[in-house]
Amino acid sequence: MARAKVQFVCQNCGAVTPRWAGRCESCGEWNSIVEEMADTGIGAGPKAAKSSGRGVELVPLSGETEDAQRVVTGIAELDRVTGGGFVVGSAVLVGGDPGIGKSTLLLQAVAALGAAGRNTVYISGEEAIAQVRLRAQRLGVADTPVRLAAETNVEAILATLEGADKPDLVIIDSIQTLWTDRIDSAPGTVTQVRTSAQALTRFAKKTGAAVVLVGHVTKDGQIAGPRVVEHMVDAVLYFEGDAGHNFRILRGVKNRYGATDEIGVFEMASGGLREVANPSALFLDQRDKGASGSAVFAGMEGTRPVLVEIQALVAPSPLGTPRRAVVGWDSSRLAMVLAVLETHCGVRIGANDIYLNVAGGLKIAEPAADLAVAAALVSSLTNAPLPADAVYFGEVSLSGGIRPVVHSGQRLREAAKLGFGKAVTAQQPGAENIEGIDVERHGALTDLIARIAASGRPRESGDEG
Ligand code: TYD
Ligand code: MG
Repeated sequence: MARAKVQFVCQNCGAVTPRWAGRCESCGEWNSIVEEMADTGIGAGPKAAKSSGRGVELVPLSGETEDAQRVVTGIAELDRVTGGGFVVGSAVLVGGDPGIGKSTLLLQAVAALGAAGRNTVYISGEEAIAQVRLRAQRLGVADTPVRLAAETNVEAILATLEGADKPDLVIIDSIQTLWTDRIDSAPGTVTQVRTSAQALTRFAKKTGAAVVLVGHVTKDGQIAGPRVVEHMVDAVLYFEGDAGHNFRILRGVKNRYGATDEIGVFEMASGGLREVANPSALFLDQRDKGASGSAVFAGMEGTRPVLVEIQALVAPSPLGTPRRAVVGWDSSRLAMVLAVLETHCGVRIGANDIYLNVAGGLKIAEPAADLAVAAALVSSLTNAPLPADAVYFGEVSLSGGIRPVVHSGQRLREAAKLGFGKAVTAQQPGAENIEGIDVERHGALTDLIARIAASGRPRESGDEG
């Protein structure tokens, strides 16, 4: 008998090495390399696949195309992120921390589709049928025509799906529990996850069903992260949120059929996930008006304006190297704003401990938040509360200037709609006027900072801010 070939696979990045090592040379992760049987069969790479050596027809770039057909769930926040529904014949990965609500969201999606007369299948590899039924009862969707199975073997799943009425949407919950006969490694290892995902992706392409793969993301290298699956699927969505908050954000990070900068906002309630059509109202709900260190940023998430509170706390530091803690924003961007404040605006802030937080667990990637961050920092430093009805947006340049940002009209309209009367932003010749909102425009950060600092008051002990 031929000896089975073993290989060593990094569970973090999927790199294959002939020898075990304590640290993966490819991604630098420690203790992530595990011994696995070499792949054979599906997904085993060019050597194992049999090629007939036939040629393919070469076609011109221009030609007949059709718009992608989509399976629209009717859950608007989900459809927005997928770009208007799951594309027929595509594979989608939905990743997220365990317990964040992936199973809940997808069960709600199949139930909504089932109620609309579409053919859906939910395959649970983690929970028994009874558990899925209990959840469906809790969500109030138990009587929708969704077909269920609890199975983890890929060949069995494929045989079932091929035998059943052609499904429009198949949920596989989760990819980490799957195993295929063709590989000896344990479920959850990179080889198993990759091979299983490949087989299911191929099934989607072949039959025209949309297949959603659920993947847990863990920081721990033991369970293969869905990273290895990302390049194989047509779209990758991440479901985010933190334990302290009820709302969840579905974010597109890859989409071959749509934009990736859209987010869907949900709230986890006792009856499942509720759509949040107006996230700004939610993010500003708990705002402490009149406290120093708080600025409202008028941001954009994809095509949608979102208002969110930025909180800063600047406190004298007892340490030689002051602390910097940032949640929801880029810490190197914070360092840049601090340097501009010191250098161009004469604000002595660098020796303080600085904490910056984007309220509600939202992550902001836009440079447009620079101005709101600068305003919040100076507001906290000088104990000068910012006007409660003002929003801030604008990019700060290294020379201390304030630059205009895209979609300023939409940002202003959203602010006006939510009852804000004032916006502070960059100078922009020819900018339109929005009714109900007074726009204060500054060319340089210095002017604005001097204004904020002038309204500061000495901090009394026990004073909050
Ligand atoms: P779940 O969908 O099982 O998460 P995942 O599949 O991402 O691991 O969600 C589990 C959490 O959601 C659990 O902690 C309980 C909570 N939850 C609610 O608050 N309300 C509900 O109606 C449901 C079904 C779950
Ligand atoms: Mg789950």
